[in-house]
Amino acid sequence: MSGFFENQYVMPYSFILLLISYICHCIYKQTRQHQLSRSKGCKDAQSKAPVKDPFIGFDFIYDCLFAKPIEKYLDSTFKTFQQLGATYAYKRWTWEAVYTCDSRNIKHVLASGFDDFKLPRLRVNAMMGLLGSGIFTLNGYSWSHARGVLRPCFAKQNKESIVNMLEMHFQALLRRIPNDRATIDLQPLFFWLTMDFATDFLMGHSTRVLDRASSHAKEKQFVDDYLTCSTEIVRKMQLGPLQMFSINFAAMRARSRVFRYIDDFINASLDKKDESEFTNMGCNVLQCLSAVTTDRKQLRDQILHILVASRDTTACLLSNLFFVLAKKPHIYDKLRREVISIAGVEPATDNQLNNMEYLKWCVQESLRLHPVIPTNAREASKDTVLPYGGGEDGNSPLLIKKGSLVMYNIYAMHRDARIFGPDSEEFVPERWNGLRPGWNYLPFNGGPRICIGQKFALLETYYLVSRMVQTFETMSAVDDSEWIELYALATTCKDGVKVGLTRAN
Ligand code: HEM
Repeated sequence: MSGFFENQYVMPYSFILLLISYICHCIYKQTRQHQLSRSKGCKDAQSKAPVKDPFIGFDFIYDCLFAKPIEKYLDSTFKTFQQLGATYAYKRWTWEAVYTCDSRNIKHVLASGFDDFKLPRLRVNAMMGLLGSGIFTLNGYSWSHARGVLRPCFAKQNKESIVNMLEMHFQALLRRIPNDRATIDLQPLFFWLTMDFATDFLMGHSTRVLDRASSHAKEKQFVDDYLTCSTEIVRKMQLGPLQMFSINFAAMRARSRVFRYIDDFINASLDKKDESEFTNMGCNVLQCLSAVTTDRKQLRDQILHILVASRDTTACLLSNLFFVLAKKPHIYDKLRREVISIAGVEPATDNQLNNMEYLKWCVQESLRLHPVIPTNAREASKDTVLPYGGGEDGNSPLLIKKGSLVMYNIYAMHRDARIFGPDSEEFVPERWNGLRPGWNYLPFNGGPRICIGQKFALLETYYLVSRMVQTFETMSAVDDSEWIELYALATTCKDGVKVGLTRAN
């Protein structure tokens, strides 16, 4: 009988105990935040984005479920910064986010305050479900270990063999372009080319989707499945905290096939290693990685993550650049003259590419005006501060609570007229003559997580752009439509790159 009474009181007592410890925890947390805020001289955010529901932040659910995608989303974010200032707070769901395009805050998040921030959980979850756990989802020690293993694999790549590989895939692209000056959309061709090239240098086996003559059903299926997975990642990220309720069986099946496709190459690579065939072959990234680990899951995850990092980004850069070049014949001519004056009509060497100053300016300008990773985010891993954005003038530090997001906007930062001039919304490669924007220009990120493949991506882009302008005497856009973004894992042109081309004799 006494046991019955005891049991009867256990539940309410445990509940009260839990409630008290929760309240104590909240008080302790708030006191610490208050102390940190005072010691750092933090003030309230200079401005806050207007919200319909300031208590819980249900706006976010509404936006996720019902809001129509904004056609020129990036421009709208730039305008919001112009109205609210370079840093503002926004209450979403039950947490707060801070939006910033202030280079001093971005530098803090990525470099000086690096240890206080990590990759946002929402991004990690969205990517991990479809790509496994690789460099794009890792934090802390696992990330620095993965980076330490990957970095030498890129350093070891031989530039001459990369350029030869690029030439082979470029020739396949040319075979896809008719000689009759008909209008062609370059964008899908660039996406195929970068897939063919990336799979080649990553695994030593190209998907060769550009090669019309070949019937690579398995490879084509892989390219389709990869697209299904990356589209699903973007969809999940857009769903935010609601992503856990979304299940997409087609994407899960695609993921299994993508895994199987890559596993075949991993098995082959590990078998060859056993047979000591390793040294006789050109070293691709997979071979390089399998010299460090034989864990097949780890190998697959890293390869998939580098594929995501390298393929879409470079295809987007090429598409964004040619979208603009086709509309600006004077820039195209100037670029072509430079390339031909240095390399003639033969494929340029690495050395020659390095001497092509105007080519570099055009690429830098494209990455400035249309950065392929235009917005990004970090989550505070502890209570911390941002150096600017607080107080009436925005010059005081701002408290960032553990778990809050800092959403940083490269697109808006790259339009700062104080750094890039009053014509900062125009495509003007000449502005790069003597310009050193430092932390105000971050197409490849900055700090310890700066893009590992930056040099590689630039070599690839310089080479392909130089080959395009050598081959085509003129390139003209089919209409004067403006650049509108297609906002995905990397950002490209919504309406493609439709151009008319004239081959040089
Ligand atoms: C135009 C081309 C490219 C652009 C604009 C670009 C940009 C970026 C950016 C902004 C990040 C930081 C992402 C973040 O931390 O949230 C990044 C990371 C990374 N990129 Fe690139 N990337 C490009 C090409 C490449 C290529 C070709 C490779 C590999 C061959 C590559 C490999 C990586 C890797 C491995 C990371 C993760 C680094 C880390 O977290 O430590 N990227 N890239």
